[in-house]
Amino acid sequence: MRVLSGIQPSGQLHLGNYFGSIVPNLALVGQAEQNFFFIADLHALTSMQEPAVLKQAREDIVLDYLACGFDPTKAIIFEQSQVPEHTQLLWILSCIAPMGLLERAVSYKDKVQQGIRASVGLFTYPVLMAADILLYRATHVPVGRDQKQHVEIARDLAGKFNAAFGEVFVIPEPVIQKDTAVVPGTDGRKMSKSYGNVIPLFGNENTLKKAIMGIVTDSKDAHAPKDPDTCVVYQIHKLFLSGAEAKALAQEYRSGLAYGEAKKRLLATVLEHLAPLRERRLGLKSSVAKEVLEAGRKKAQEVAHTTMAHVRESTGLS
Ligand code: ADP
Ligand code: TRP
Repeated sequence: MRVLSGIQPSGQLHLGNYFGSIVPNLALVGQAEQNFFFIADLHALTSMQEPAVLKQAREDIVLDYLACGFDPTKAIIFEQSQVPEHTQLLWILSCIAPMGLLERAVSYKDKVQQGIRASVGLFTYPVLMAADILLYRATHVPVGRDQKQHVEIARDLAGKFNAAFGEVFVIPEPVIQKDTAVVPGTDGRKMSKSYGNVIPLFGNENTLKKAIMGIVTDSKDAHAPKDPDTCVVYQIHKLFLSGAEAKALAQEYRSGLAYGEAKKRLLATVLEHLAPLRERRLGLKSSVAKEVLEAGRKKAQEVAHTTMAHVRESTGLS
């Protein structure tokens, strides 16, 4: 098993990223023969054009990863933009990618609808993502449900390439955690940086309080029975709990737990759970990020180089 996942440095990490991507990724570290975690900074360029912000976000996200518990001796942590093979493979895959396949990708349409400029890069985003995955012959790709279609496109392109040029690529599997496939945001939609509805992972107490107190609820009376299945406060709270604890809490909602009290409890749980991460984060210096990324780049580059040699050979470009 070779595990690979990426995250865009396009804003602060939030609970959706944590439960949808980081926790499942961490669970696989140690089980896999190789783990790759990379900063998808080339992907981030599709939606941001602020050099200073991107630079800072790239550094922050590595420190955030480390604070979450990624061990750079067990996982290869690197930046996409520092391994040129990603864009080389992007071109080769672009030449076999049918237009229709990309035209069916929902995330392009979603992003344009949200106001992101419709660039060629945004359109070919899934092909770059396929290159990211196939370059490392990843067998398992842990992502949230919103990225499933992208992993399917990577599978499709791997199959098409292999059929045309011989068996070079491994067909990757998306790994999607059922319980955390879509973490709701404070407004009930999918939690996402681009919706401004996040509970930040490394926010200070005040920010967390503001976000949690602002979660939308229905207008039921304080002590009226509540439905935990449709309540965003509960849906977020249960992510932190064991099965038995979640069941007991659901029962309290049904017995009329007031939303104000429910939010206070959620805040206490979040603060308690994230305290060790936040403490670790404060102790990490930016020089650590540089060291980790440079070591990661070297290891990633080696693997990417070998795959590209096969690709060149099989396509007649060697
Ligand atoms: P965002 O939507 O905030 O821009 P990203 O696209 O950078 O988040 O996502 C990084 C990773 O976190 C991906 O694997 C994605 O599937 C996962 N993820 C993001 N938001 C959520 C969410 N609300 N629920 C579950 N997983 C999520
Ligand atoms: N598109 C992913 C996201 O926005 C980030 C990403 C880029 C990725 N390349 C990847 C995730 C390869 C998994 C594998 O979340």
